[in-house]
Amino acid sequence: LDNGVGLTPPMGWLSWLRYSCTINCEEYPTECISENLIKRTADAMASEGFLEAGYQYVIIDDCWPETTRGADGRLVPDQARFPSGILELSRYIQSKGLKFGIYEDYGNLTCAGYPGVLGHEATDAATFAEWEVDYVKLDGCGAPDPDEGYPMFGKLLNETGRPMIYSCSWPAYQSHPNYYAIAKACNIWRNYGDIENNWGSVLNIMNWFGSNQDEFAQIAGPGNFNDPDMLVIGNSGLSVDQARVQMAVWSVLAAPLIMSVEVSSMEPEFKEILLNKDVIAVDQDPMGKQGLRVWTGLDGQDQIWHRELSGNARALAFVNSGETTVEASYTYEQMKLPLQDYILQDLYKEEEKRTLRAGEDFKVKINPTGVRFYKFVPKIEEDIVRENEIY
Ligand code: GLA
Repeated sequence: LDNGVGLTPPMGWLSWLRYSCTINCEEYPTECISENLIKRTADAMASEGFLEAGYQYVIIDDCWPETTRGADGRLVPDQARFPSGILELSRYIQSKGLKFGIYEDYGNLTCAGYPGVLGHEATDAATFAEWEVDYVKLDGCGAPDPDEGYPMFGKLLNETGRPMIYSCSWPAYQSHPNYYAIAKACNIWRNYGDIENNWGSVLNIMNWFGSNQDEFAQIAGPGNFNDPDMLVIGNSGLSVDQARVQMAVWSVLAAPLIMSVEVSSMEPEFKEILLNKDVIAVDQDPMGKQGLRVWTGLDGQDQIWHRELSGNARALAFVNSGETTVEASYTYEQMKLPLQDYILQDLYKEEEKRTLRAGEDFKVKINPTGVRFYKFVPKIEEDIVRENEIY
């Protein structure tokens, strides 16, 4: 969608994976979907280096409204959990330099049974603009006609004059989505099912993206990105190696980097992965070209993911999806690399820079359910950069 926002994949935080539809604040005072949770998250994002790293959007997922609309037909936030109202909350978040996002659904009811936008499209689009929302996730439970509804709601959002990232779940609810129409109407879109807090789910999504990439990878570009769903990193479900895999592959996919975690108390090793600026730079490459799975081993255990970056550089993730260590040697052809010398930068800093001579096999050792992730810079480009630094 050409609305001036989302020129690189949006980065931020969304409540769903970690906090789901927890609404009992008496029993779960720190976990429930409430303004306290959202403010605490915004505070931590600003103070713990996430905002500085690029994580900007703080988004409330499902279960924020009252179960019935107000007498004027407008959505009302749950009075007990959001006593200050949404405009106050969005201003609080924006006062920290962050941006604010909200969830709705193009059906009668959201996926968790709260009022959907169907029949109230114009009112709700106007309400979101009045609440100074910067990002709208529109889900598709009970959506009667996604091909019509999503563009229509997007048009209403545009007509408010307030630029908002428009995140659509449209293709996730269809078997043969029309990605051209989707990209025209939406900034990002969920292609596939919900991610869960475990490695099997991350791997399943990766494999689905790898197997179906020809249908949608080429559609990605500034203002338009495929969304494999939230980063699970920092929760109980992934090991450090597995978390590195998700971060690497998501950045090759030019995916939105949307965490869903308790930001204020995260283990340092996971925080380090989420804040890795070299990996984030891959995700945020201004060319916005989505990478591809270019090679899989015979049994599917090892995979090469390859993204073209600006400056003729490339990011290559060597993934080991299995439970045993992989020691591999890959040819230029397997890596889909143009024949030239490269300087390799290990993005997780496990080794020093190394040179790969044109045509030389690339040897790498990958931990079980782990990744090695490199930026390949053509030696010629690297030499030009160095000369510019010297003179
Ligand atoms: C769907 C979406 C999730 C989340 C829930 C909320 O399952 O795919 O990301 O928004 O609904 O109910």
